[in-house]
Amino acid sequence: MASLSLTQIRTGNSASGFSLNCRGKVQARPCRVGFRVSASENGNNKASSEPDLSVTVNGLKMANPFVIGSGPPGTNYTVMKKAFDEGWGAVIAKTVSLDAAKVINVTPRYARLRAGANGSALGQIIGWENIELISDRPLETMLKEFKQLKEEYPDRILIASIMEEYNKVAWEELIDRVEQTGVDAIEVNFSCPHGMPERKMGAAVGQDCALLEEVCGWINSKATVPVWAKMTPNITDISQPARVALQSGCKGVAAINTIMSVMGINLNTLRPEPCVEGYSTPGGYSAKAVHPIALGKVMSIAKMMKSEFDMDKYSLSGIGGVETGGDAAEFILLGANTVQYFTTHTDLVQRQQEAIRQRKAIKKGLQSDKDWTGDGFVKESESMGLKQRSLS
Ligand SMILES: Cc1cc2nc3c(=O)[nH]c(=O)nc-3n(C[C@H](O)[C@H](O)[C@H](O)COP(=O)(O)O)c2cc1C
Repeated sequence: MASLSLTQIRTGNSASGFSLNCRGKVQARPCRVGFRVSASENGNNKASSEPDLSVTVNGLKMANPFVIGSGPPGTNYTVMKKAFDEGWGAVIAKTVSLDAAKVINVTPRYARLRAGANGSALGQIIGWENIELISDRPLETMLKEFKQLKEEYPDRILIASIMEEYNKVAWEELIDRVEQTGVDAIEVNFSCPHGMPERKMGAAVGQDCALLEEVCGWINSKATVPVWAKMTPNITDISQPARVALQSGCKGVAAINTIMSVMGINLNTLRPEPCVEGYSTPGGYSAKAVHPIALGKVMSIAKMMKSEFDMDKYSLSGIGGVETGGDAAEFILLGANTVQYFTTHTDLVQRQQEAIRQRKAIKKGLQSDKDWTGDGFVKESESMGLKQRSLS
Protein backbone atom coordinates (compact mmCIF):
# COMPACT_ATOMS: atom_id res chain seq x y z
CA MET A 1 0.00 0.00 0.00
CA ALA A 2 1.47 3.37 -0.98
CA SER A 3 1.85 5.84 1.84
CA LEU A 4 3.12 9.36 2.37
CA SER A 5 6.03 9.75 4.71
CA LEU A 6 7.53 13.14 5.40
CA THR A 7 9.91 13.20 8.30
CA GLN A 8 11.38 16.28 9.90
CA ILE A 9 14.11 15.98 12.43
CA ARG A 10 14.84 18.47 15.14
CA THR A 11 18.42 19.59 15.61
CA GLY A 12 19.87 21.30 18.60
CA ASN A 13 21.74 24.07 16.87
CA SER A 14 19.70 25.12 13.87
CA ALA A 15 18.44 28.67 13.40
CA SER A 16 14.92 27.43 13.57
CA GLY A 17 15.40 24.43 15.79
CA PHE A 18 14.33 22.36 12.79
CA SER A 19 15.93 20.86 9.74
CA LEU A 20 14.51 19.07 6.77
CA ASN A 21 14.69 15.41 5.92
CA CYS A 22 11.97 14.25 3.60
CA ARG A 23 11.54 10.61 2.65
CA GLY A 24 8.85 9.54 0.26
CA LYS A 25 7.04 6.27 -0.21
CA VAL A 26 4.18 7.08 -2.58
CA GLN A 27 3.68 6.82 -6.29
CA ALA A 28 5.37 9.79 -7.94
CA ARG A 29 2.45 11.94 -8.89
CA PRO A 30 2.78 15.57 -9.95
CA CYS A 31 0.15 17.78 -8.40
CA ARG A 32 -0.62 21.42 -8.99
CA VAL A 33 1.93 22.58 -6.45
CA GLY A 34 4.63 20.40 -7.96
CA PHE A 35 5.02 18.58 -4.64
CA ARG A 36 6.51 15.19 -5.45
CA VAL A 37 7.95 12.34 -3.48
CA SER A 38 9.69 9.19 -4.64
CA ALA A 39 7.79 6.10 -5.60
CA SER A 40 7.65 2.93 -3.60
CA GLU A 41 4.76 0.49 -3.44
CA ASN A 42 5.80 -0.78 -0.07
CA GLY A 43 7.53 0.86 2.81
CA ASN A 44 10.57 -1.45 2.62
CA ASN A 45 11.94 -0.23 -0.70
CA LYS A 46 14.39 2.63 -0.28
CA ALA A 47 14.04 5.48 -2.74
CA SER A 48 16.92 5.29 -5.21
CA SER A 49 17.58 9.02 -5.22
CA GLU A 50 16.70 12.09 -3.21
CA PRO A 51 13.09 13.11 -3.67
CA ASP A 52 12.44 16.26 -5.66
CA LEU A 53 10.29 18.48 -3.51
CA SER A 54 10.83 21.63 -5.55
CA VAL A 55 7.90 23.95 -6.15
CA THR A 56 7.42 27.01 -8.33
CA VAL A 57 5.00 29.54 -6.93
CA ASN A 58 4.29 32.89 -8.57
CA GLY A 59 7.34 32.25 -10.74
CA LEU A 60 9.58 31.72 -7.70
CA LYS A 61 11.46 28.43 -7.72
CA MET A 62 11.95 26.93 -4.27
CA ALA A 63 13.89 23.79 -3.46
CA ASN A 64 10.99 22.67 -1.29
CA PRO A 65 7.68 24.14 -0.07
CA PHE A 66 8.88 24.63 3.50
CA VAL A 67 9.26 28.31 4.34
CA ILE A 68 10.47 30.11 7.44
CA GLY A 69 7.57 32.36 8.50
CA SER A 70 7.91 35.98 9.54
CA GLY A 71 9.06 36.48 13.12
CA PRO A 72 12.18 36.02 15.24
CA PRO A 73 13.71 33.36 12.93
CA GLY A 74 13.88 36.09 10.24
CA THR A 75 14.98 38.94 12.39
CA ASN A 76 18.57 39.41 11.26
CA TYR A 77 21.25 38.33 8.79
CA THR A 78 22.66 35.59 11.01
CA VAL A 79 19.44 33.64 11.52
CA MET A 80 18.28 34.06 7.91
CA LYS A 81 21.64 32.88 6.61
CA LYS A 82 21.39 29.82 8.86
CA ALA A 83 17.95 29.08 7.43
CA PHE A 84 19.35 29.20 3.88
CA ASP A 85 22.22 26.96 4.92
CA GLU A 86 19.75 24.48 6.41
CA GLY A 87 17.95 24.25 3.08
CA TRP A 88 14.63 25.94 3.70
CA GLY A 89 12.68 26.66 0.51
CA ALA A 90 12.34 30.35 1.34
CA VAL A 91 12.76 32.75 4.22
CA ILE A 92 10.30 35.49 5.13
CA ALA A 93 11.99 38.20 7.17
CA LYS A 94 10.55 39.75 10.30
CA THR A 95 8.05 42.49 9.38
CA VAL A 96 9.61 45.92 8.78
CA SER A 97 8.16 49.42 8.59
CA LEU A 98 9.70 52.79 7.69
CA ASP A 99 10.27 54.07 11.21
CA ALA A 100 11.50 51.43 13.65
CA ALA A 101 11.77 54.06 16.38
CA LYS A 102 7.99 53.89 16.76
CA VAL A 103 8.22 50.19 17.65
CA ILE A 104 8.80 49.51 21.34
CA ASN A 105 9.07 45.83 22.17
CA VAL A 106 8.63 44.93 25.82
CA THR A 107 9.91 42.06 27.90
CA PRO A 108 8.50 39.63 28.85
CA ARG A 109 6.34 39.26 25.79
CA TYR A 110 5.38 35.58 25.81
CA ALA A 111 2.99 33.49 27.92
CA ARG A 112 2.38 29.78 27.54
CA LEU A 113 -0.42 27.25 27.82
CA ARG A 114 0.33 23.78 29.12
CA ALA A 115 -1.73 20.71 28.39
CA GLY A 116 -1.56 19.30 31.94
CA ALA A 117 -4.46 19.48 34.38
CA ASN A 118 -5.07 23.05 35.62
CA GLY A 119 -2.10 24.27 33.59
CA SER A 120 0.21 21.95 35.54
CA ALA A 121 3.81 23.06 35.27
CA LEU A 122 4.62 19.55 34.06
CA GLY A 123 2.21 19.58 31.15
CA GLN A 124 3.39 19.81 27.57
CA ILE A 125 3.41 23.34 26.17
CA ILE A 126 0.82 23.47 23.41
CA GLY A 127 0.18 27.18 22.94
CA TRP A 128 1.96 30.50 23.14
CA GLU A 129 0.67 34.02 23.37
CA ASN A 130 2.98 36.81 22.28
CA ILE A 131 2.74 40.58 22.42
CA GLU A 132 5.78 41.10 20.24
CA LEU A 133 5.54 43.89 17.69
CA ILE A 134 7.20 44.10 14.29
CA SER A 135 10.95 44.63 13.89
CA ASP A 136 12.42 47.31 16.14
CA ARG A 137 15.72 47.31 14.25
CA PRO A 138 16.41 50.33 12.00
CA LEU A 139 15.04 49.80 8.49
CA GLU A 140 18.42 50.70 6.99
CA THR A 141 20.02 47.83 8.91
CA MET A 142 17.42 45.33 7.80
CA LEU A 143 17.68 46.47 4.16
CA LYS A 144 21.46 46.20 4.23
CA GLU A 145 21.13 42.63 5.48
CA PHE A 146 18.51 41.69 2.84
CA LYS A 147 20.91 42.97 0.16
CA GLN A 148 23.83 41.04 1.60
CA LEU A 149 21.77 37.83 1.77
CA LYS A 150 20.63 38.20 -1.85
CA GLU A 151 24.24 38.80 -2.93
CA GLU A 152 25.41 35.70 -1.08
CA TYR A 153 22.41 33.50 -1.97
CA PRO A 154 21.23 34.83 -5.37
CA ASP A 155 19.27 31.68 -6.21
CA ARG A 156 17.47 31.41 -2.87
CA ILE A 157 14.09 32.99 -2.18
CA LEU A 158 14.06 35.88 0.28
CA ILE A 159 10.70 37.47 1.01
CA ALA A 160 10.36 40.79 2.82
CA SER A 161 7.43 41.23 5.19
CA ILE A 162 6.15 44.80 5.38
CA MET A 163 3.60 46.85 7.29
CA GLU A 164 2.87 50.57 7.22
CA GLU A 165 0.41 53.15 8.45
CA TYR A 166 -2.61 54.21 6.39
CA ASN A 167 -0.59 56.44 4.08
CA LYS A 168 -0.12 55.78 0.36
CA VAL A 169 3.19 57.63 0.11
CA ALA A 170 4.62 55.71 3.05
CA TRP A 171 3.61 52.34 1.56
CA GLU A 172 5.16 53.34 -1.79
CA GLU A 173 8.41 54.42 -0.18
CA LEU A 174 8.64 51.22 1.85
CA ILE A 175 8.00 49.01 -1.19
CA ASP A 176 10.54 50.92 -3.26
CA ARG A 177 13.26 50.65 -0.62
CA VAL A 178 12.60 46.98 0.09
CA GLU A 179 12.59 46.07 -3.60
CA GLN A 180 15.93 47.82 -4.14
CA THR A 181 17.59 45.15 -1.98
CA GLY A 182 16.71 42.47 -4.53
CA VAL A 183 14.13 40.54 -2.47
CA ASP A 184 12.12 38.07 -4.55
CA ALA A 185 8.67 38.83 -3.16
CA ILE A 186 6.83 40.79 -0.52
CA GLU A 187 4.46 39.47 2.11
CA VAL A 188 2.20 42.16 3.56
CA ASN A 189 1.33 41.81 7.21
CA PHE A 190 -2.41 42.58 7.28
CA SER A 191 -2.82 40.38 10.27
CA CYS A 192 -0.88 41.07 13.46
CA PRO A 193 -3.66 41.31 16.09
CA HIS A 194 -1.75 43.52 18.51
CA GLY A 195 0.46 45.69 16.34
CA MET A 196 -0.55 48.40 15.79
CA PRO A 197 -4.29 48.58 15.04
CA GLU A 198 -4.61 52.08 16.49
CA ARG A 199 -2.57 53.29 13.50
CA LYS A 200 -4.58 51.21 11.00
CA MET A 201 -1.82 48.64 10.79
CA GLY A 202 -1.85 44.84 10.77
CA ALA A 203 -5.18 43.14 11.51
CA ALA A 204 -6.96 46.50 11.42
CA VAL A 205 -6.54 46.35 7.62
CA GLY A 206 -7.12 42.60 7.21
CA GLN A 207 -10.42 42.85 9.09
CA ASP A 208 -11.81 45.67 6.96
CA CYS A 209 -12.39 44.67 3.33
CA ALA A 210 -12.84 48.26 2.08
CA LEU A 211 -9.61 49.40 3.70
CA LEU A 212 -7.84 46.26 2.50
CA GLU A 213 -8.94 46.85 -1.08
CA GLU A 214 -7.65 50.42 -1.02
CA VAL A 215 -4.29 49.55 0.56
CA CYS A 216 -3.78 46.51 -1.69
CA GLY A 217 -4.48 48.79 -4.65
CA TRP A 218 -1.70 51.20 -3.56
CA ILE A 219 0.70 48.33 -2.93
CA ASN A 220 0.10 46.46 -6.15
CA SER A 221 0.34 49.51 -8.36
CA LYS A 222 3.80 50.10 -6.93
CA ALA A 223 5.26 46.61 -6.41
CA THR A 224 7.13 44.89 -9.22
CA VAL A 225 7.66 41.59 -7.38
CA PRO A 226 4.86 39.16 -6.38
CA VAL A 227 2.91 40.28 -3.30
CA TRP A 228 1.36 37.88 -0.76
CA ALA A 229 -1.28 39.09 1.67
CA LYS A 230 -0.94 37.54 5.12
CA MET A 231 -4.42 37.19 6.55
CA THR A 232 -5.80 37.33 10.06
CA PRO A 233 -7.92 34.49 11.47
CA ASN A 234 -9.65 37.04 13.73
CA ILE A 235 -12.59 37.43 11.39
CA THR A 236 -15.73 35.38 10.75
CA ASP A 237 -15.06 34.45 7.13
CA ILE A 238 -11.39 34.61 6.19
CA SER A 239 -12.15 33.87 2.52
CA GLN A 240 -13.69 37.33 2.12
CA PRO A 241 -10.55 39.42 2.74
CA ALA A 242 -8.48 36.77 0.92
CA ARG A 243 -10.70 37.25 -2.15
CA VAL A 244 -10.39 41.05 -1.90
CA ALA A 245 -6.58 40.84 -1.67
CA LEU A 246 -6.37 38.65 -4.78
CA GLN A 247 -8.85 40.78 -6.70
CA SER A 248 -6.74 43.82 -5.77
CA GLY A 249 -3.57 42.49 -7.36
CA CYS A 250 -1.95 40.25 -4.74
CA LYS A 251 -0.49 37.07 -6.24
CA GLY A 252 -0.76 34.99 -3.12
CA VAL A 253 -2.38 34.63 0.27
CA ALA A 254 -0.76 33.41 3.48
CA ALA A 255 -2.74 32.29 6.52
CA ILE A 256 -2.89 32.35 9.44
CA ASN A 257 -1.28 34.97 11.61
CA THR A 258 -1.84 34.64 15.35
CA ILE A 259 -5.24 34.43 17.05
CA MET A 260 -6.26 37.24 19.41
CA SER A 261 -6.04 35.87 22.93
CA VAL A 262 -5.65 36.48 26.63
CA MET A 263 -3.52 33.67 27.96
CA GLY A 264 -4.76 33.96 31.51
CA ILE A 265 -4.52 35.63 34.87
CA ASN A 266 -1.86 34.59 37.34
CA LEU A 267 -4.00 33.69 40.36
CA ASN A 268 -1.07 34.19 42.73
CA THR A 269 -0.39 37.77 41.67
CA LEU A 270 -3.81 38.54 40.12
CA ARG A 271 -1.90 39.94 37.16
CA PRO A 272 -2.53 39.04 33.50
CA GLU A 273 0.08 37.12 31.51
CA PRO A 274 2.45 38.18 30.06
CA CYS A 275 2.80 40.92 32.63
CA VAL A 276 4.93 44.02 32.10
CA GLU A 277 5.07 46.23 35.20
CA GLY A 278 1.60 45.01 36.20
CA TYR A 279 0.01 45.62 32.81
CA SER A 280 -0.77 43.43 29.84
CA THR A 281 -2.70 43.47 26.59
CA PRO A 282 -4.38 40.79 24.48
CA GLY A 283 -1.83 39.15 22.22
CA GLY A 284 -1.46 36.59 19.44
CA TYR A 285 -1.97 32.88 20.10
CA SER A 286 0.14 30.40 18.15
CA ALA A 287 1.80 26.96 18.10
CA LYS A 288 0.40 23.44 18.24
CA ALA A 289 -2.99 24.38 19.70
CA VAL A 290 -3.87 26.61 16.73
CA HIS A 291 -3.13 23.99 14.07
CA PRO A 292 -6.73 22.73 13.65
CA ILE A 293 -8.01 26.31 13.43
CA ALA A 294 -5.34 27.15 10.86
CA LEU A 295 -6.27 24.08 8.79
CA GLY A 296 -9.90 25.21 8.82
CA LYS A 297 -9.05 28.75 7.69
CA VAL A 298 -6.69 27.53 4.97
CA MET A 299 -9.30 25.08 3.70
CA SER A 300 -11.82 27.90 3.48
CA ILE A 301 -9.42 30.07 1.46
CA ALA A 302 -8.38 27.13 -0.74
CA LYS A 303 -12.00 26.36 -1.64
CA MET A 304 -12.64 29.96 -2.56
CA MET A 305 -9.44 30.24 -4.62
CA LYS A 306 -10.06 27.00 -6.46
CA SER A 307 -13.54 28.01 -7.52
CA GLU A 308 -12.81 31.66 -8.37
CA PHE A 309 -9.15 32.01 -9.40
CA ASP A 310 -6.76 30.39 -11.86
CA MET A 311 -4.62 28.37 -9.48
CA ASP A 312 -1.67 28.39 -11.89
CA LYS A 313 -1.34 32.13 -11.29
CA TYR A 314 -2.02 32.43 -7.58
CA SER A 315 -0.61 30.77 -4.50
CA LEU A 316 -1.59 29.87 -0.97
CA SER A 317 0.77 29.51 1.98
CA GLY A 318 -0.41 27.61 5.08
CA ILE A 319 0.78 28.63 8.55
CA GLY A 320 -0.08 27.59 12.07
CA GLY A 321 1.16 25.04 14.56
CA VAL A 322 3.40 23.10 12.19
CA GLU A 323 5.71 20.91 14.22
CA THR A 324 6.14 17.86 12.00
CA GLY A 325 6.26 16.93 8.34
CA GLY A 326 2.79 15.46 8.79
CA ASP A 327 1.43 18.82 9.95
CA ALA A 328 2.91 20.43 6.83
CA ALA A 329 1.51 17.71 4.57
CA GLU A 330 -1.98 18.42 5.92
CA PHE A 331 -1.79 22.02 4.68
CA ILE A 332 -0.59 20.83 1.27
CA LEU A 333 -3.35 18.24 1.03
CA LEU A 334 -5.89 20.99 1.73
CA GLY A 335 -4.56 23.06 -1.18
CA ALA A 336 -1.59 25.08 0.12
CA ASN A 337 1.36 25.49 -2.23
CA THR A 338 3.84 26.26 0.53
CA VAL A 339 3.85 25.81 4.30
CA GLN A 340 5.34 28.27 6.72
CA TYR A 341 7.02 27.01 9.78
CA PHE A 342 7.45 29.50 12.52
CA THR A 343 9.53 28.00 15.30
CA THR A 344 9.43 25.76 18.29
CA HIS A 345 8.41 28.47 20.66
CA THR A 346 9.88 26.51 23.55
CA ASP A 347 13.24 27.03 21.97
CA LEU A 348 12.56 30.74 21.59
CA VAL A 349 11.65 31.21 25.20
CA GLN A 350 14.60 29.14 26.35
CA ARG A 351 16.83 31.49 24.39
CA GLN A 352 15.10 34.50 25.88
CA GLN A 353 15.43 33.11 29.39
CA GLU A 354 19.10 32.42 28.77
CA ALA A 355 19.58 35.99 27.50
CA ILE A 356 17.91 37.34 30.62
CA ARG A 357 19.98 35.05 32.83
CA GLN A 358 23.18 36.29 31.21
CA ARG A 359 22.06 39.89 31.50
CA LYS A 360 21.26 39.41 35.14
CA ALA A 361 24.60 37.73 35.74
CA ILE A 362 26.54 40.83 34.73
CA LYS A 363 24.71 43.05 37.27
CA LYS A 364 27.28 42.22 39.88
CA GLY A 365 26.96 43.74 43.31
CA LEU A 366 23.17 43.99 43.30
CA GLN A 367 21.33 42.39 46.18
CA SER A 368 18.04 41.28 44.69
CA ASP A 369 15.87 41.16 41.59
CA LYS A 370 14.31 44.44 42.69
CA ASP A 371 17.62 46.20 42.18
CA TRP A 372 17.92 45.30 38.54
CA THR A 373 14.32 44.92 37.36
CA GLY A 374 13.85 48.63 36.88
CA ASP A 375 17.23 49.05 35.23
CA GLY A 376 16.59 48.51 31.59
CA PHE A 377 14.69 45.24 31.84
CA VAL A 378 11.34 46.52 30.66
CA LYS A 379 13.02 49.11 28.47
CA GLU A 380 14.62 46.27 26.61
CA SER A 381 13.88 46.86 22.98
CA GLU A 382 16.05 44.28 21.31
CA SER A 383 14.22 41.58 19.45
CA MET A 384 14.87 37.93 20.18
CA GLY A 385 17.14 37.66 17.18
CA LEU A 386 19.42 40.39 18.47
CA LYS A 387 19.54 38.70 21.81
CA GLN A 388 20.40 35.46 20.11
CA ARG A 389 23.10 37.14 18.09
CA SER A 390 24.65 38.67 21.16
CA LEU A 391 24.69 35.22 22.72
CA SER A 392 26.41 33.52 19.84
C1 LIG B 1 7.01 35.94 18.76
C2 LIG B 1 6.27 36.03 17.46
C3 LIG B 1 6.56 37.06 16.57
C4 LIG B 1 5.89 37.16 15.34
N1 LIG B 1 6.20 38.18 14.50
C5 LIG B 1 5.57 38.26 13.29
C6 LIG B 1 5.89 39.30 12.38
O1 LIG B 1 6.76 40.15 12.62
N2 LIG B 1 5.22 39.35 11.20
C7 LIG B 1 4.27 38.42 10.86
O2 LIG B 1 3.69 38.50 9.76
N3 LIG B 1 3.95 37.40 11.71
C8 LIG B 1 4.58 37.31 12.90
N4 LIG B 1 4.26 36.28 13.76
C9 LIG B 1 3.24 35.28 13.38
C10 LIG B 1 3.88 34.01 12.77
O3 LIG B 1 4.57 34.28 11.58
C11 LIG B 1 2.78 32.96 12.48
O4 LIG B 1 1.89 33.50 11.54
C12 LIG B 1 2.00 32.57 13.73
O5 LIG B 1 2.85 32.48 14.85
C13 LIG B 1 1.28 31.22 13.54
O6 LIG B 1 2.22 30.21 13.24
P1 LIG B 1 2.82 29.19 14.35
O7 LIG B 1 1.65 28.60 15.09
O8 LIG B 1 3.58 28.20 13.53
O9 LIG B 1 3.72 30.00 15.24
C14 LIG B 1 4.91 36.18 15.00
C15 LIG B 1 4.61 35.14 15.89
C16 LIG B 1 5.27 35.06 17.12
C17 LIG B 1 4.92 33.92 18.05
